[in-house]
Amino acid sequence: MPGMDEHLGAGSLARLLRGWREGAGAGTSAQAALAARISALLADGRLAVGTRVPSERELATALDVGRGTVAAAYEELREGGYLVRRRGSGTWTSQPSAPVSRTDAAPAPLDGALHVGATGFAPFAPIGAMGAPPAQAWGREVIDLAHAAPWAPMEAMAEAGARALAELPMHLAGSGYDVLGLPALREAVAARLSAQGLRTTADEIMITAGAQHAHALVARALVRPGDRVLLEQPTYPGAIDLVRHTSARPVPVAMTEHDGTPGWDVEAIAAAMRASTPAVGYLVPDHQNPTGAVMSAETRAAVVAAAARHGVPLVVDDCLREMWLDAPTPPPLGAWSVGGGTPVITTGSLSKTVWGGLRIGWMRAPRTLLRRIAGARASDDISTPVLEQLVAVALFDRLDEIIAESRRVLVHRREHLRDALARALPEWRTPRPPGGFSLWIDLGVPRSSALVEAAARAGIHLAAGPRFGTGGAFEQYLRLPYTLSPDALDDAVARLAEAWDTLGAGAPTLTTVV
Ligand SMILES: Cc1ncc(COP(=O)(O)O)c(C=O)c1O
Repeated sequence: MPGMDEHLGAGSLARLLRGWREGAGAGTSAQAALAARISALLADGRLAVGTRVPSERELATALDVGRGTVAAAYEELREGGYLVRRRGSGTWTSQPSAPVSRTDAAPAPLDGALHVGATGFAPFAPIGAMGAPPAQAWGREVIDLAHAAPWAPMEAMAEAGARALAELPMHLAGSGYDVLGLPALREAVAARLSAQGLRTTADEIMITAGAQHAHALVARALVRPGDRVLLEQPTYPGAIDLVRHTSARPVPVAMTEHDGTPGWDVEAIAAAMRASTPAVGYLVPDHQNPTGAVMSAETRAAVVAAAARHGVPLVVDDCLREMWLDAPTPPPLGAWSVGGGTPVITTGSLSKTVWGGLRIGWMRAPRTLLRRIAGARASDDISTPVLEQLVAVALFDRLDEIIAESRRVLVHRREHLRDALARALPEWRTPRPPGGFSLWIDLGVPRSSALVEAAARAGIHLAAGPRFGTGGAFEQYLRLPYTLSPDALDDAVARLAEAWDTLGAGAPTLTTVV
C-alpha cells in the first residue's frame, strides 16, 4: 500500500484498478465507475491517504481511456474530498471529512458488540456506540464490517482499570522507562505461553503497543529495503502494508484448500524459502486472518524444519491463537523450534482476546535477538505506557473467564451470520471457521471491490478481498466478521443482499455515494 507522501505510478494505480469497468455494472458511466473504484480503494486501505496520484494524462494512458474520463473522475473525487490538488505538486489522495460520530457519547452495554462508526466514506451517521441508538440519526447508520475485532468486556476492563490505578503509585518512584516492559506483565505472558506448550521465561519477552508494533520492531531489526518477506496469501493486510513500508518485497505463498478446509502447502513454503531466501517468513498458524485456518501439528513441525534448513527466521503471529470456537489448537508453532535452528519470534497481544484499544502486545524472541531489537526501540517509542501495562496485568488474572465468555457469544454469532447468509445470499459459499472472528466468503464471481462500493452506499463499511493479498488477488472473496450483535448482523445481511442486487442491475454512480 502506498504510504504517506508517496508517489503512485500510473502502472501501479492501473493494477490496483484492474476490473474497474466490469465491476461497476451496466449503465454506469466510465468516469463514475473509475471514481467509485478509486474511492473504494481508499475506503479499504489499498490506497493510502496522502498518496500523490498520477496525472490525468498518465493514468488515461495506463488505463487506455480518454483523458476526459480521468479528468471527470478526478473532479468527482475532488468534490467528494477524496482528492486534493496541491499547488505545484500534483493531486493527492485525501480523507473526506467524516460525519459527526455519535459513538463517543453512549455507554456500551456489557454485551456490547457492535463495531460501528463514522468511516468518512459513506453519507451515513454511525450507529451509536455498541448498539445504542444514535443521538441524531440524519441518515442510515454505518455498520463497520471492515474490522474483525472483539468488543471490550466492560466490567472486567473497569475492574482492571481500577486495580491499575491503585497500583500505579508503587511505580511512580521509578523512571517508568523500561524498554522490555513491566516484569509482572512479562512474567504473566511467559507463564501463559509456557502453559500452552511453548516454554518461555520472562527474559524472552518484550511488551509492545500491540502485535503490529512487535512486527514493525522485528522488521526494523531484520528486514532491509529490497529484502524479501515470505507471506501467506491471503494474509493480514497490516503485514502486507508493513512489508511495503519497509520497501521489502513480498513473497506470497498461496494457502491451499482441501474439501473446503483451508491450509498450508509446506512444499510450496519450503520451495519459496529455497528460491528467494527471505529475510523473514511471517505466518499466522492459528485462525489465520482472513481464512480462519489452523495449521496442523505435522505442518508446524515441517514448516519449522524447512525454515531451519533454509535459515529463514520466522515471525509467528499468535494474535488470534486463543480465539478457538470449536476445539483448542496444537501448541504454538514456536514449540517445534528446539535448540539452535533459525530464530522463531512469536508475537501476540490482548487485542483479540480482550480489546484492541488497550494496545498491549508482546514478542517472544531468543534473548540476544530480543536485546538487539530492544536496542533499536530506544530511538523509537522507548517503552510501553505503565498504566496500560498494569491494566493488562490485572486482565491476565481473568483472561480465561473473559475468553470463555467471548467464545460463547462468538459461536452463536458465527452460526447466526452463516444462517442469515444462507437464506439471503445462497449463491455465496460461507465456510465455518474453527475460530477467529470472520468468514472468508467465496462470492462465486470476482465482484468483491464492486460489492464494497455498492455496500458503502447501503451504509456498510467492508474490506474487499484484494485487501488481503498482493497483486490484486481475491477479487472473488469477501471477509465478513461475525462480531456484531445478531440484530446488527441481520441488518448487515439485508443491506448486503440489497447491495449485491444492485450489482446485477448496474451499480449507481459515485455521485450518490458522495
Ligand atoms: C493476524 C493479525 N495480526 C495482528 C493484528 C494487529 O494486532 P494488534 O492490535 O495487537 O496490533 C491483527 C489485527 O487485526 C491481526 O488480525
